[in-house]
Amino acid sequence: MTTPVVTPDPDAELARLTDIATPYAVRAAVTLGLPQLLEDGPVTLAELTAATGADEGALGRLLRYLVAHGLFDEVREGYALTEVSRRLVGDDGAARRAWLDLSGPGARMDAGYAGLAAAVRTGAEGYSVVHGLPLWEDLATRPHLRVEFDALMGADTERVAHLLATEYDWTGTGDIMDVGGGGGILLAEILRAQPQLTGTVFDLPPAAAAARAHFARSGLSSRAHAITGSFFEPLPVGADTYIVSRVLTDWNDAAAQRILRHCVDAARPNGRVLIAEVLPYDTAQAPTAPYDLQMLVVVGGCLRNSEQFAALAAAAGATVASVRRWPSGLMVIECRPL
Ligand SMILES: C[S@@+](CC[C@H](N)C(=O)[O-])C[C@H]1O[C@@H](n2cnc3c(N)ncnc32)[C@H](O)[C@@H]1O
Repeated sequence: MTTPVVTPDPDAELARLTDIATPYAVRAAVTLGLPQLLEDGPVTLAELTAATGADEGALGRLLRYLVAHGLFDEVREGYALTEVSRRLVGDDGAARRAWLDLSGPGARMDAGYAGLAAAVRTGAEGYSVVHGLPLWEDLATRPHLRVEFDALMGADTERVAHLLATEYDWTGTGDIMDVGGGGGILLAEILRAQPQLTGTVFDLPPAAAAARAHFARSGLSSRAHAITGSFFEPLPVGADTYIVSRVLTDWNDAAAQRILRHCVDAARPNGRVLIAEVLPYDTAQAPTAPYDLQMLVVVGGCLRNSEQFAALAAAAGATVASVRRWPSGLMVIECRPL
């Protein structure tokens, strides 16, 4: 049973729950580049206006709002970063800003929340209600957003790729197929760490092109390839390890099962399938985590714990040989065809 939450001021709490100004004000500040402009110390409103080309009156209103909400500070010399907005500068900050920039794919996915009620009614994604097309088709019509999307995904995957590359036991593997492998970040990291391996990214055309370019830049073109196709069709056979990284969470059970079945069928009889997911917290908390709703609304997917993945694997004709979880959120489930 859940403990009832005691709310001291229900009106204030409702206002807090329904506030839309603050999430967009923070995103506007990021889109205008304000955190970086303040990185070296306080800057006056006039200087910020000149640097951003914004309307001075409107920029002053945005800054005052964000000072009142703790994102920035107002000091004698102008506006300054706080401990909170320091999280938006530097190397780590760049990845956070990429998700928040209103001109990028992160904010486009966030805008999909306007389709949440529709997604709840149908159980399918709500992104297309807002943007006219489901995410993957929308990205196919907007190549620059697709490039930025692959970079966003790649930055998250890059944080954990070395763990799979170096701590997983690759004995018995010669050739890998990374199914829905995106821009090739994970496969490149594995091949760098395991010079005896070769591999192929299998993904939609724009992602495969990005992967090919990444392999060329990384000097891996002789061992790393990229091919195009849909994982809803049978997959090329021949690899001995099929990886599905951060893919199954994008899909409902029926679709995820189909993708997994294609991996399992291609891996038969002696290959293996590695399900990799990067979850921002313990999946036990999934039902109350925003990420689960985000998966529903953006792509019609859902978070799963290791038992749910094991059930998917069984339905796809495989058994789970091992489950490993790292503190960074990486979970790797090794499946073997039955
Ligand atoms: C969330 S991204 C994960 C990318 C990468 N595996 C990673 O771990 O960073 C999901 C990937 O699935 C790919 N995808 C979506 N629909 C697909 C389809 N029908 N066939 C093949 N790939 C698809 C997308 O293009 C995208 O690269």
